[in-house]
Amino acid sequence: MDKNNGSKEESGIQSVLHEERVFSPPPESSSRSPRWLINSKEEYERLYEESISDPATFYGRIASELSWFTPWKTVLEQKSAGSVLDTEWFVGGTLNLCYNGADRHVEAGFGDDTALVWESEPLNEDGSPEVRTLTYRDLQEQSARLGAALKDLGVQKGEIVTIYMGMVPELAISLLACARIGAAHSVIFGGFSAQAIADRIEDAQSRVVITADGLFRRGKIVPLKEKVDEAIDTLGASSVEHVISLTRCKNATAHQKRDHDYHSLLERFQDTPCPCEPLGAEEMSFLLYTSGSTGKPKGIQHSVGGYLVHAYLTAKYVFNLIPDSGQTFWCTADIGWITGHTYILYGILPNRVPTLLYEGAPDFPEKDRLWDIIERHQVTQFYTAPTAIRAFMKWGDEFPKRRDLSSLQVIGSVGEPINPEAWIWYYETIGAGKCPLVDTYWQTETGGHVITPLPGVTPTKPGSCAHPFFGIDAAVVDRTGREVAPNEGGLLVIRKPWPGMLRGVYGDRKRFLETYWSTVTIDGEPVYTAGDGARKDDDGYFWIMGRIDDVINVSGHRLGTMEIESALVSHSAVVEAAVVGMPHEVKGTGITAFVTLSPQEAERTGNLEALRDKIREHIAKEIGSIAKPDSIRFTDALPKTRSGKIMRRLLRDIASGKEEIAQDTSTLEDFSVLADLKEQDSS
Ligand code: WT7
Repeated sequence: MDKNNGSKEESGIQSVLHEERVFSPPPESSSRSPRWLINSKEEYERLYEESISDPATFYGRIASELSWFTPWKTVLEQKSAGSVLDTEWFVGGTLNLCYNGADRHVEAGFGDDTALVWESEPLNEDGSPEVRTLTYRDLQEQSARLGAALKDLGVQKGEIVTIYMGMVPELAISLLACARIGAAHSVIFGGFSAQAIADRIEDAQSRVVITADGLFRRGKIVPLKEKVDEAIDTLGASSVEHVISLTRCKNATAHQKRDHDYHSLLERFQDTPCPCEPLGAEEMSFLLYTSGSTGKPKGIQHSVGGYLVHAYLTAKYVFNLIPDSGQTFWCTADIGWITGHTYILYGILPNRVPTLLYEGAPDFPEKDRLWDIIERHQVTQFYTAPTAIRAFMKWGDEFPKRRDLSSLQVIGSVGEPINPEAWIWYYETIGAGKCPLVDTYWQTETGGHVITPLPGVTPTKPGSCAHPFFGIDAAVVDRTGREVAPNEGGLLVIRKPWPGMLRGVYGDRKRFLETYWSTVTIDGEPVYTAGDGARKDDDGYFWIMGRIDDVINVSGHRLGTMEIESALVSHSAVVEAAVVGMPHEVKGTGITAFVTLSPQEAERTGNLEALRDKIREHIAKEIGSIAKPDSIRFTDALPKTRSGKIMRRLLRDIASGKEEIAQDTSTLEDFSVLADLKEQDSS
């Protein structure tokens, strides 16, 4: 292990540029892992070469490790040689996600093995949490009951069921039940507001919603069904005919005619057969809404066959999953994000390694909760986000030091670039310097990892996500599609099709084409543009430099600035608003809102602090707490160009407290605005 001390500079890109440390993977003899699935550079290179030059053979071999009802006729069909867009995968094949996660293991004799381990947030009187263990047979039976119930409510193959729940086993069952009967699910993260639910339900035209009376977070109850009711009854989600609600928190809401109690409903379908529906590989498996640079969230649409192959393959090699070797995999993300879809459920279950689900907050009742969970469940793979890692660092080493973390084999990071300081802390304090750290780059749109180290082979550099995964032809290019020189920044693109790629933006072909397929063309063919800036260093390592559109990444989740701005101006006191990202110690990027008030509001010399709080609450209500601005600055005017465009880059500099504004201000309409802005008090 070569360990030079790199730069200690604080902020993302600067310190990353100076990072020179390299950590070799521990050799098998000294590693805690039973073995590395890929343990030599030669083997890795041979497989990567094959995956790029002969994807049909490579992916065909991987896909045959999964279960198909009808075999595919062709592995991939491109529209024309060299095209990426609209490639179809495993054409002619039929399969089912739930079957691959549950039933096939039961049929192979592993029905009594642990599939999912769940731990509650609230503790019993003796201080122990509630732990539930579900076997593959449990997943099969429970998804069949709920599947049969959904069918009884008239749910058809291809229709979209909306799910809005906390992290309980029934959430996992709900996704699997939809998959089982061939309905697509649209999971909405439990932190989103009634308005966000209404928008998503309306876009998906869901007739059925599965929810719960609430979820537990830091000992408090966060209501869920209440918000679903509000979305339906007052915010116009009028397509909904049935609401299935799980009782988790004894937080009853008014009963509506459309309501069904989760458990009573399932009782009725104890013995109703509900086999897994064979689905065409290219049919829709699920939608997941993500923010874009315009106000409306995009329903990212995934397939069945390609998605499953990509999820399974990446989970296997990036986390080194080996069935029957005593592993327990834990991803701390919420199932409401793509990370949870792919690396709590669909990628992990088919690999037949138990997956852990934790209900609550990392600091409840104490800041050692996660480490306590790792110790008690002997977790072997731990996958979390940089924002969480920075919070752990801040809380202090004493908390992880209290627990035995020696079961860990591989640790992972996802969601945003991880700063070298946090990387090193994670590697040393949690991984004891003995576990490969995989910094996995991917997106809701890519379905699974696309650039990542492999634990047994890739020497890692703190802050870099290393190399493209098998089958991924990633490159850093300029607007003309030419690769830029080493260490030069450019646009991150993917030049060949991969199976997990998104199949569309639900109901909006135009937006799909504009967002992902119109920035860069190579040899006349549009290539996939991720919307991130990146550079490759002299050793071919990728370094992600962040979003290039009007999207900010807060705590590993993308928020469209437009979306927050429209929520801001919907507050009666606000006339105009501009939202930008700024460096934030824990979240990575925080939100600064520049706000001009209505003349009436501005005249009242009232309490600005109280107004800030009100505006923050308003945002929480409109979008969710995650979008609350960290800082709100009131201003008489926003800096604009002569054509009336808000100069965001300028605001970004101001928000990050840059003394000198380096931007070109020659098009700024009114210079006094700038001086005023810099003087405004902020909070
Ligand atoms: C955006 C995708 C993929 C699941 C979590 C977020 C950023 C993600 C990394 C990483 C640098 C990363 C990118 C990407 N991102 N992982 N390892 N290093 N940046 O999913 O909400 O779809 O966001 O997150 O900017 O485009 P998402």
